[in-house]
Amino acid sequence: MEVIIRPDAARAVALVADLLEARLRRHPEQVLGLATGRTMEQVYAALVDSGVSFSHVTSFNLDEYIGLSPEDPRSYHHYMHEHLFSRIDIDPARAHVPQGDARDLAAAAADYERLIRRAGGIDVQLLGIGEAGHIGFNEPLSSLASRTRDKCLTPTTRAQNASMFGDDPEQVPERALTMGVGTILEARELILLATGSAKAAIVARAVEGPISAMVSASALQLHPNCKVIVDEAAATELQGREYYDFVFANEPDWAAYRD
Ligand code: F6R
Repeated sequence: MEVIIRPDAARAVALVADLLEARLRRHPEQVLGLATGRTMEQVYAALVDSGVSFSHVTSFNLDEYIGLSPEDPRSYHHYMHEHLFSRIDIDPARAHVPQGDARDLAAAAADYERLIRRAGGIDVQLLGIGEAGHIGFNEPLSSLASRTRDKCLTPTTRAQNASMFGDDPEQVPERALTMGVGTILEARELILLATGSAKAAIVARAVEGPISAMVSASALQLHPNCKVIVDEAAATELQGREYYDFVFANEPDWAAYRD
């Protein structure tokens, strides 16, 4: 795992967008794993602005609320359409989001896993982190070997996501269809982005704490190619910061990003 601390959210976002753009330019046939949420909005805006082509890309989103139709403005289908898919040249048939309104959720979950396998697996998976440590919607106690399935959301997550639901956590769906932690860990590269002070405590637990199903993001410590990119505000509780900064200052890969 590599932890990269940028001075502010704009530079953390720019770094993530740059890494994705570079991978797309090098291998236009990327299979991308995508996330939603506030943190990702600026990443998608930067990717759109970059003008990079997605015409050969296949994408798989992490999750979708159960019970919302793709047209529902609060759904992740809608979020992706608004922030990315309608603004790039991706083939809509290859832009996958879990089917939260499926009648048979278990079958939809199994199909999603099959589609990912058929695409050859995910090259780069983009991740945010919830305040309770989830990646995707893998809430505390999600098995670290879990696959795509339906999952009950925690009160913390429903409160965190209430802004799209009239600021009323009770209106946030109780369940979601989400890739599992095991599914996520199979991606060849993981990039987690976290910004803002509300994420500082959970970032420290995920990166430096024990690996535990109580903090799904701690499973990222098991991945051989994982970058955690944070801004100053999200980095304040990290104990190993001096070393992370030393690595950033010395790794040739990061030369272009040093201020
Ligand atoms: C959403 C997802 C979630 C979010 C996380 C952070 O697809 O996978 O894990 O990344 O809840 O959300 P924001 O960025 O809104 O703080």
